[in-house]
Amino acid sequence: MTERLHWGEIEGYLARTVAGEDEILASIRARTVAAGLRPIEVSGTDGALLALWCRLVGATRVLEIGTLGGYSATWLARAVGEQGSVTTLELDPRAAELAEENWRVAGVHERIEVIVGAAANTLQLLIGSDTEPYDLVFIDADKKNNPTYLEAALALTHPGSLIVVDNVVRGGRIVSDSDDPDVVGTRRVLEMLGSDPRLQATAVQTVSSKGWDGFAVAYVLG
Ligand code: SAH
Ligand code: DHB
Ligand code: MG
Repeated sequence: MTERLHWGEIEGYLARTVAGEDEILASIRARTVAAGLRPIEVSGTDGALLALWCRLVGATRVLEIGTLGGYSATWLARAVGEQGSVTTLELDPRAAELAEENWRVAGVHERIEVIVGAAANTLQLLIGSDTEPYDLVFIDADKKNNPTYLEAALALTHPGSLIVVDNVVRGGRIVSDSDDPDVVGTRRVLEMLGSDPRLQATAVQTVSSKGWDGFAVAYVLG
């Protein structure tokens, strides 16, 4: 516990000092808590990493699965620039509504579209509608569906895209014999990422105010 507090303190310091988490982003975090939603958005340092990855692959079209209060989507929207767009999928209409308010405050609402509904359904609609491929997909919703989301992400990207999966360590439960569907879904997605010849992937462990976790990142090969 002491460690976790310490990790949280360093996370805040790094977010402000090097990662560029500003007042607007901090206020989105606060408004998410105030609205009674669970404070499970990415850390400031991870938000900045998502933004950096957008820039590295020259992303102008981003797809996010799991919106919450719109915190990570704000980082992504800033990174794609005025001509870019972020499509984000959310089950909870209350979260989607709050996110839209937050994007207005941040001045990025014109670049973001939230689609309310079960992401697996929405993804099938996107695949069926022949939508242009995305340059970066951030998977951060219900973990039991991670394999479904990765399959969809592969159908919706192009060589040179990045696919990022959040929360792949979850306090180390990933290597337990747990049959929790979220753990099973995440273990499976890691196996898929590691064995698909179309992908070059890795996973990185992290510590923060939310404890011990990690993310996976995969490059779609040409
Ligand atoms: N990416 C956000 C955090 C997302 S938290 C950020 O970092 O700021 C996970 C979100 O996924 C929650 O808002 C939850 O309501 C949503 N979610 C859960 N199950 C879902 C589903 N089946 N389809 C779409 N969204 C879902
Ligand atoms: C949970 C979900 C997340 O996306 C996250 O970043 C942290 C926690 C959760 O469901 O507990
Ligand atoms: Mg997450």
